[in-house]
Amino acid sequence: MQESTLTVCYIIASVTFILGLKMLSHPATARRGNLIAAGGMSLAVLATIFLYHDENGNALHNYGWIFGGIAIGGIVGVFVAKKVKMTAMPEMVSLFNGMGGACAALISIVEYNHLVHRAADSVIATGELLIILSGLIIGTISFTGSMIAWAKLNGRIKDFAFKGQHVLNLLLLLIIACTAAWLVYSSREGEAGTSGHPLMIFYFILLLSVTYGVFFVLPIGGADMPVVISLLNSFTGVAAACGGFLYDNKAMLTGGILVGAAGTLLTILMCKAMNRSLLNVLIGSFGGNAQSGTAGKQQGAYKEISLSDAAVVMNYANKVLIVPGYGLAVAQAQHACHELEKLLTERGVDVKYAIHPVAGRMPGHMNVLLAEADVSYDQLLEMEQANEEFPSTDVVLVLGANDVVNPAAKTDPSSPIYGMPVLNVELAKTVIVNKRSMKPGYAGIENELFFQPKTSMLFGDAKKVLQELIAEIKSL
Ligand code: TAP
Repeated sequence: MQESTLTVCYIIASVTFILGLKMLSHPATARRGNLIAAGGMSLAVLATIFLYHDENGNALHNYGWIFGGIAIGGIVGVFVAKKVKMTAMPEMVSLFNGMGGACAALISIVEYNHLVHRAADSVIATGELLIILSGLIIGTISFTGSMIAWAKLNGRIKDFAFKGQHVLNLLLLLIIACTAAWLVYSSREGEAGTSGHPLMIFYFILLLSVTYGVFFVLPIGGADMPVVISLLNSFTGVAAACGGFLYDNKAMLTGGILVGAAGTLLTILMCKAMNRSLLNVLIGSFGGNAQSGTAGKQQGAYKEISLSDAAVVMNYANKVLIVPGYGLAVAQAQHACHELEKLLTERGVDVKYAIHPVAGRMPGHMNVLLAEADVSYDQLLEMEQANEEFPSTDVVLVLGANDVVNPAAKTDPSSPIYGMPVLNVELAKTVIVNKRSMKPGYAGIENELFFQPKTSMLFGDAKKVLQELIAEIKSL
């Protein structure tokens, strides 16, 4: 009876994971989707704690440890999540993801120890050992890789690469695979306990996986971390699914597979939106030192616009499109931006936002940012829609965006962003670009848009500039 109740709980949990994931795909339902999936996960965890019995009919008993761990993890999790700034979100995701990888690796360590001690009088099933080793290797790489990604994102460690590092990484991976294969071979059924020092070999694989995780992420350009974090996230999912196989736990299996698949899809989508291959992200050092294409070239003169002129141009326009980018998030200018949009709308201007899929530093960054300021979803145009609207737009206001409006992506085959779909802002009648200086953005390249005759630069911190712009428009 208890077993069937447990199975029902797992089925309900699995359904909530799928529902939650579906709802996460739209900003309007994302919050609810997250809560539903979290509810399902809580159900699965509590059901396991209170309803699970092993083959001898024993229930779990060490409740003090279990609830102590849950309480500590829960309190730290809530505290960190409440405190985190939007721009530091990839950092936090990386830290939490690393914890998931560590859990999967710990499960493998505990279960392998059980197995080896049992193996004196019984045999080690090859399938079971394969799952344990997969969980160990993938979970450990995910843990150490995520920790390095976290430390790189918050500036604790710098990019580090040496000649031949990629070859060394491949070699390390090969040694891990061969050692694991040898452990499986020497522990195969009928020969349990005869592999010499199976525990030592096991911990050697652990050590190699730790090293690989570090070396795998260290050389990757700091700015490419969001893609790597998404990839590591999928690793954690696969490692957790190994735990699900091991314990024959359906909720863990479904959850792990969903995380693995979602992380892989997200990685592919992010690469596609940047028009880069995953290999280029992993070994390309994008936005680092190398400057190609129009990078670094003097493009000619740019012109500036005063606040009062910008206010007049926008106030008397029929249609304004706002292009938010990473700088808007850095300046935390979303509320001021919404205020400007409302003010212009009150004055009869048609105002919308053009959202590029990889504007900012994480998927959906701009959507989340604008939702925080209560901007209506109806006003957000996706890139394809926005590109149709630019020719009939009077003023485009670019707020802290750079690469996503760089025409070099269409015109300069030697540019690192060549082929990346961009917002065709130059098709509008007037373009006003707000940023603090002429410094490049994420890709580290010059932007010819800033030097075009119809473009005017409005320098300053986005929040301050927007507040002053609002005051100017009000005084008109
Ligand atoms: P970026 O190309 O990084 O440009 C942001 C601009 O904002 C900078 O040029 C900077 O210029 C300006 N800025 C910074 N702080 C500011 C402030 N306080 N006020 C005003 N401006 C400020 O950003 P983007 O156009 O949003 O493009 C995103 C880039 O990130 C793309 O290359 C994309 O491929 C990459 N990326 C995105 C993702 C996802 S999923 N979103 C993941 C990985 C990589 P100043 O320093 O002169 O102010």
